[in-house]
Parts: sequence; structure tokens; C-alpha cells
Amino acid sequence: MLIAIPGNEAHAARLGERLGVEVLVPEVRHFPDGEMYVRLPREAIAGDVAIVGNLEANSFLQVAFLAGTARDLGAVRVGLVAPYLAYMRQDACFNAGEGVTARYFARLVSSTVDWLVTVDPHLHRLDSLDRVYSIPTTIARAAPAIARWIADEVRDPVLVGPDAESAQWVSAVADRLGAPYVILEKTRRGDRDVSVAWAGAGPAAPPQLDGHTPVLIDDIVSTGRTMLEATRRLRAAGTAAPMCIAIHAVFADAVGDELVAAGASGIITCDTIAHASNRICVADPIADAVRSRL
Ligand code: R5P
Repeated sequence: MLIAIPGNEAHAARLGERLGVEVLVPEVRHFPDGEMYVRLPREAIAGDVAIVGNLEANSFLQVAFLAGTARDLGAVRVGLVAPYLAYMRQDACFNAGEGVTARYFARLVSSTVDWLVTVDPHLHRLDSLDRVYSIPTTIARAAPAIARWIADEVRDPVLVGPDAESAQWVSAVADRLGAPYVILEKTRRGDRDVSVAWAGAGPAAPPQLDGHTPVLIDDIVSTGRTMLEATRRLRAAGTAAPMCIAIHAVFADAVGDELVAAGASGIITCDTIAHASNRICVADPIADAVRSRL
């Protein structure tokens, strides 16, 4: 049985179809004093349940209350399927006094559910979710679905990663396509202050780009500055218009028009976060990952 976090009913329905299980839509509302009320449409629950949805807007309390309710109704194990795993980027203390929220968040989730399934989490300085999560975790991969989309839609692609950490996603897609790839160097000075250069501070575009269509791939598009600066770097070198692909459509800023104005042919995303740019469905690998947990 699946329980949809409010706002994530579509995710839960796609997964429920693939797993052939029922999806419960809970009642979640607030009392006049702002405290949260939750109710599941059941008198009893048997076996395993999974709560499905992203923990955006600090919705951790919803997960905690839904998990508690499911256990009180008899659920034996409660998992969490979060297609986009929030709080993975502040994975270190960069300036004195900062909180390492990736660690604290993982501790909270680990104390609340029995297992976790997610899609390509932002593992950068942390090399594994096990470094912060104490529960079993399974990662579903978007690379096969992204590779299929590129094979269908882009002629002679060359894949481009905008920064060092993107190499893991870019190389996985490139391997499947048998396509060349290049990785750029990013410097981030602030939330919206980013620059992108050719690796090794080289002045010119590497030869792999010649005569190919660049496809920029990153895990997250948030402010879009990374995609934007990478696009500008490519176009300044005279490449064809790059197609931008992100796994997680965070879109803290609506950057689509700016990207096209900068010379990209467009931006598309996987459907881990519902957004108008979603073109690549990753429900199948998520369903496989959940099956592996049951
Ligand atoms: C960070 O290293 C990630 O891989 C992405 O490059 C980053 O989250 C993109 O953020 P933004 O869209 O704000 O540049």
C-alpha cells in the first residue's frame, strides 16, 4: 500500500500502477492554531507501506505523522519513496558555524522510516547515502531513461557536464549511448554567482564538440545559473545550440527563457519533481527500486 504525501498524488499513482498496489490519499489539514492533523482512510493496515513524495517546503513533519499513523494502524514496515531527496547539498561545513543539514536531515528521516528509495541523490563530497542515512537505501538511476530520450531526439550528441560532480551522471549516460563527453569546471561564489570554464583553464573548446550537438546534463537545476553559464561558455566557442537536461526540476528561479536567450535549444527534465519541463519518466526504475526493498 502506498500513502501519497499531499501534492504528490501523481507520483504515487504512477508508482501504484506499476506495483499493482493501492494508493491511500490521506487527509492532512491544520488546526486553527497551525498544528497539523492527519488521518488515513483505513481502520487497519497490514504489512508494508511506503510513503511517496518529495520532502519540499520542509514537509518532514507530514512524513513523520503519516508514518506514525500507519504504524499505529498496524503497518509492519514503513518506507519512504522520495524521487528528489532534499537537503543533500549542504553536506559539509564551508564556513565556521554552519550546520551540515544533510546529516541532520538524514538522521531525522532515518529515525522515522525503515527504508528509503530515491532517484540520483546529490552525492558529491559524500560518496554514499550510507555515510549519513542509517536505514537501508536504494538509488534508482535516471541514466537509462535519459539515454533513451537522447537517442530518440538528438543527432550526433556530445554530452557536456557543467562541473566535476556532474561527471557521474554524464558518464553513465554517455556509456549507454557510446557518445563522447566533456566535463567543464564550475566556480560557485554565491547562490546566483557562478562561472564555468573549460577544464584545465584551457582557452578553447575541446575537439570532441566539433560537429556534434551538445547536450548539457546535470542532476539539479535550481537557480539555473549553472546551466546558463555552461550554455554561454559553449555558444561563445561556436558550438551548436545545446539541449539542457536536468534530473531534478527544482527551479528556484524560472530560467527557461533566459536559457533560450543565451543560446540553448531548451531545457527538459525527468519527472522526479512535477514541472512543465518534465519529459522523461523515471517511474519504472523507481518501481524496481521499491520492489528490491519489499
Ligand atoms: C550542484 O553542484 C549541482 O550538481 C547543480 O549543479 C546545482 O545544484 C545547480 O544549481 P543552480 O541551478 O542553482 O546553478
